[in-house]
Amino acid sequence: MNFSLAQRLQQIAPFHVMEVIKRAGEMEQAGRSVIYMCIGEPDFPPAQPVLDAAQRALADGAAMRYTAALGLQPLRDAISAHYRDAFGVDVPAARIVITAGASGALLLACAALVERDAEVLMPDPSYPCNRHFITAFNGRPVLIPSGPADRFQLSAAMVAANWREQTRGVLLASPSNPTGTSMTRDQLAQTISAVRERGGFSVVDEIYQGLTYDHQPFTALALGEDVIVINSFSKYFNMTGWRLGWLVIPPALLPAIEKLAQNFYICPSSMAQHAALGCFTPQALEIAEQRRQEMRRRRDYLVPALQGLGFDIPVPPDGAFYVYADCSRWTDDAAGFCRDVLEHSGVALTPGVDFGEVGAHRFIRVSYATSMAKLEEAISRLAAYLARGA
Ligand SMILES: Cc1ncc(COP(=O)(O)O)c(C=O)c1O
Repeated sequence: MNFSLAQRLQQIAPFHVMEVIKRAGEMEQAGRSVIYMCIGEPDFPPAQPVLDAAQRALADGAAMRYTAALGLQPLRDAISAHYRDAFGVDVPAARIVITAGASGALLLACAALVERDAEVLMPDPSYPCNRHFITAFNGRPVLIPSGPADRFQLSAAMVAANWREQTRGVLLASPSNPTGTSMTRDQLAQTISAVRERGGFSVVDEIYQGLTYDHQPFTALALGEDVIVINSFSKYFNMTGWRLGWLVIPPALLPAIEKLAQNFYICPSSMAQHAALGCFTPQALEIAEQRRQEMRRRRDYLVPALQGLGFDIPVPPDGAFYVYADCSRWTDDAAGFCRDVLEHSGVALTPGVDFGEVGAHRFIRVSYATSMAKLEEAISRLAAYLARGA
């Protein structure tokens, strides 16, 4: 082609895990058995009330047309009621915008908040796609190395030490992908206060909200009307392919976000919105709770099993469905380790390099979004692999 690509593409890294998945697919084609522990997607289907709501919307034609850009009013109302019932927080529906996944929510937030050369602080390690949205709007993601002492999260002290004239805000995620660690309530409050004092914005990605195992759930929305929250139907409600999420914004941001949504994609998928109304029925919430307990059971099996094999897990995960495990006992090249484990044992893992620059080469991300039987089989294959090299 005789035209060139936008410069910003040079800042957007490929996702290494896709290479793992590609190779795993080839191995399966060749008749090998592969256990996928590299996937960031729950292995459960949507709850039956969600599928029923989708069928009804199809049958009566309700899902055939555009909706309002901000989303269906009953869905915004249902999310508002959920914040009240599950978290005791009053979030008016007027502040809730339905989006195309958490990804769509972040797209809107970045378009509204990130100017050329604006710096946005976030922890290293963190979910890579989020930082690429900042780059896509010509801003600069600034990765702040964070370790076990701060639960791999951003602290108020890090905000103070790294805030510069061109810094505009922070992007947090709790629980985190890849570490499965949440910010404590105090850490979150202190970090947001430090940002607020400096006149910055706090965007908190709560996509794994609901998938927490050790503490009473809380939301950053309890910490002030200026906090911007991203959430999704993908994980807790098992609707990854439906592409639906939401954004909670301060009231003053609403006109900006509404016109961006109108222009970017007119409205989120109407079909998905009608289906998602089924998420807030008592039956669907009960199913979500049972699945949360199943995830906890898997975590409680997997963490000690990995430690037993010799992996160091500096902060036990309290949420999401990931374990961030240090494999430096065997290698300082986690990506090579993942390739080798896949070839020899058919267990697909995600290398840390996808998530950060400092220290990430020593880590792997292990997902437990797969059945208990497969987790047990994976542990015995890993044991055999490690014994072979010993
Ligand atoms: C931390 C985090 N944020 C956002 C997303 C995007 O999710 P979705 O667009 O499916 O809602 C993911 C997906 O894995 C994630 O892990």
